[in-house]
Amino acid sequence: MCGITAYIGAEPALPFLMQGLSKLEYRGYDSAGVTLVDSSGLFTCKTKGRLKQLEDMLETVPCPQKCGIGHTRWATHGVPSQMNSHPHTNEKNTISLVHNGIIENYLALKEELLKKGYKFKSETDTEIVVHLLDDYYYHEHLSLFEALLKAVHQLQGSFALCIVSTEEPDVIYAAKKESPMVLGRDKSGTMCASDAPALLAYTSEILPLKDGQAVIMKADSLQIFDFDGVPQEEEWIVFPYDVHAAQKGGYDSFMMKEIHEQPSAVRETLRGRFRGEMVYMPEIEKLNLPARGIQRIYYVACGTAYHACVYAVTQISARARCAVSAMPASEFRYGSPYLDEHTLCVFVSQSGETADTIAALKLAKEKGAVTAGVVNVLGSGITRLADATLYTCAGPEISVASTKAYTTQLVLLTCLNIKLADLLDWGVFDQYQLIEDLQKLPEAIEEVLKYEKKIAELAELLRYRQDAYFIGRQLDYPTAMEGALKLKEVSYVHADAYYAGELKHGPIALIEKDSVVIAMATQPKVAAKTVSNIEETIARGARVILITTQQMKADRFEHVLRLPELSDELSAVTGVVLLQMLAYYTASIKGCDIDKPRNLAKSVTVE
Ligand code: F6R
Repeated sequence: MCGITAYIGAEPALPFLMQGLSKLEYRGYDSAGVTLVDSSGLFTCKTKGRLKQLEDMLETVPCPQKCGIGHTRWATHGVPSQMNSHPHTNEKNTISLVHNGIIENYLALKEELLKKGYKFKSETDTEIVVHLLDDYYYHEHLSLFEALLKAVHQLQGSFALCIVSTEEPDVIYAAKKESPMVLGRDKSGTMCASDAPALLAYTSEILPLKDGQAVIMKADSLQIFDFDGVPQEEEWIVFPYDVHAAQKGGYDSFMMKEIHEQPSAVRETLRGRFRGEMVYMPEIEKLNLPARGIQRIYYVACGTAYHACVYAVTQISARARCAVSAMPASEFRYGSPYLDEHTLCVFVSQSGETADTIAALKLAKEKGAVTAGVVNVLGSGITRLADATLYTCAGPEISVASTKAYTTQLVLLTCLNIKLADLLDWGVFDQYQLIEDLQKLPEAIEEVLKYEKKIAELAELLRYRQDAYFIGRQLDYPTAMEGALKLKEVSYVHADAYYAGELKHGPIALIEKDSVVIAMATQPKVAAKTVSNIEETIARGARVILITTQQMKADRFEHVLRLPELSDELSAVTGVVLLQMLAYYTASIKGCDIDKPRNLAKSVTVE
C-alpha cells in the first residue's frame, strides 16, 4: 500500500513531504521518492530502500521549492527498484506524478501509447498516466486539469494521484478513486496525503476526498470537482485520534486494523480476475497445463498459509480428476512427495520468503514439476523461483498474526481451483454462482464485522480458560484449524482443531464443565452432524459458540452467530473473520502484546 504526500504553500515543501512519508511508514514500503517543482524546473529524487536513504541523498541538496509531491511505494507491478519507484516523469521532464492503487487496463493503454511513440522507463502500471497527461496536454492542447479529467475517465482500477508540472508550478492536481486520499490546510499552505497521520502535525482538520473527486490545490485555495468538472462541496471533519493511534487507523493494534481491512483486501485481490462468468488468470494459462498431462497437484505452505492449502484441497478434491493433496512445506521437503513433469505444485505464502516453503519449491523444480506461487509480497523469493505467481493484494501485513493474507489466499485459491477445473476439463464447478458470490464477499465480510461487540463479550468465556476446542467438518475444518492457531498465537490459550466426527474417538475425554467449544457448522451436507457433536459436548458441561448458516435450526444453543448467505465454499472466509476477532478479544482482555506475540516472527526465514 503506497503512501502519498503533497504540499504547496509559503514554506519549503520537503520537510512536510518527508515527515508525512515517515508517518505513513506503517503502510509498508520498499522505495521512496519526491519531486519538487518551481519555475526553474522539476527536481526528482527517488531510491529503492528506506526513507533514510532518500533523506541521505537529499541532505546536501538545497531544496527551497515550495511545491512538491512524495511517495513511498509498495511494489505491485514491477519489482522494487529505483526505476519503478515514484514519482514518474514524462520524457520532457515537465510533468511528475505519484500514484497509489492499481491501474487494471494499463497494458492496453500502454500499447496505444507505445504506438504513439512514448518510451517507458519502468515496469509500473503508473507510468502510463504521466504519458497520457503528456499526450493530452501537448498534443491535444488540453489544460493540465482537463488532461487529468480525461485521463481518469480512461483508467480502470483504483487510484489516488498527485501531479505537479513546470507548466503550472503553483498548482498541484489530485484525483481519487478507491484509494485513500485526505486533504488539509494550515496558515502556510495546502497539503494532501494517503492518510491523516501525515497531516496531523500540521492540522487536525481533514477533508477525506470521495471516490470520483479531483482537486486543484494552490498555496491559498483548494477546489474540489467531480470527474466531469462539476464543483463539489467541501466536507471537513476534525480528526479525533492522536498521531500514534492514527497510524493504526484508530485501532489499537495492527491485527484489528488488518481484520477490518479484509473487505478491501479481498476486493483488491479479486480485481480484474473475472471475465463474465469465467476466471481470468493469464499467469496460469501460460503454464500450458492441459498439454502437460497433469496427474497430481500439491498445495504446499506453512502455518496459516498451510490452512489455506487444506481449504483449497478440500474444495477441489470432489471435482478433481487427479490426485490433490495439501502438505506443510516442512514435511514436503523432507518427505518423498511424488514429483515429476506431470505434477503441479502450488506454494502459498504471505511473505514469499518462508525458508521451508522456498526449500520445498526448489525441490519441486529440481524434480521437473510445474510450480506456481500464491504470494502477497511482490518480488519476494518465491515469486523469483516459481514458474508463475498469483498475487494476493492484501497490502502489507504488519501484525505477526496473519489475517487479511489468509482470507485473500482463500479467495485467490478458489479462483485458481475454478481455473484449473476449466483448463483441465474437470467439468462442473457450479462456478457461476460462486463467481457471483465471490464478488459479494467484501460486503458479506462487512456484515460479519458487525458481530464485533458480541465477539468481545464471548471472549469473556475464554478469559480464565487454559484451552479451547475448535470443531468442524469438510470445509469447516481448515477454518477450525485457523481459528485454533489464531487463538493460541495471540492469547496463549491452548487450542486445537478436530474434525467434529473425531471428537468421540478421543478428544471428548477432555471436555468438562465450562470447556469452551467453538463449532463451525456451515456446510449443509454435514452441518446437522456437527450440531449433534455439539450436543455431546454440552451434555458434558461445555459452553459452545456455534457459527452457522441462516437456515440452520440452532436457536436452542446459548451462543449462535449466523453468517451471511453465500455459496457454501465462502463461509470459510466470513467464518474465519469471527474467529480472528475472538482471538483478538481474548488476547486483549488477557493483556497480551497482540501484534508481537512472544517467540514469533513475521517472516520465518530460517528452518
Ligand atoms: C500465523 C502466521 C504464520 C504464517 C507462516 C507462513 O498467523 O502468520 O503461521 O502463516 O509462518 O508464513 P508465510 O505466509 O509468510 O509463508
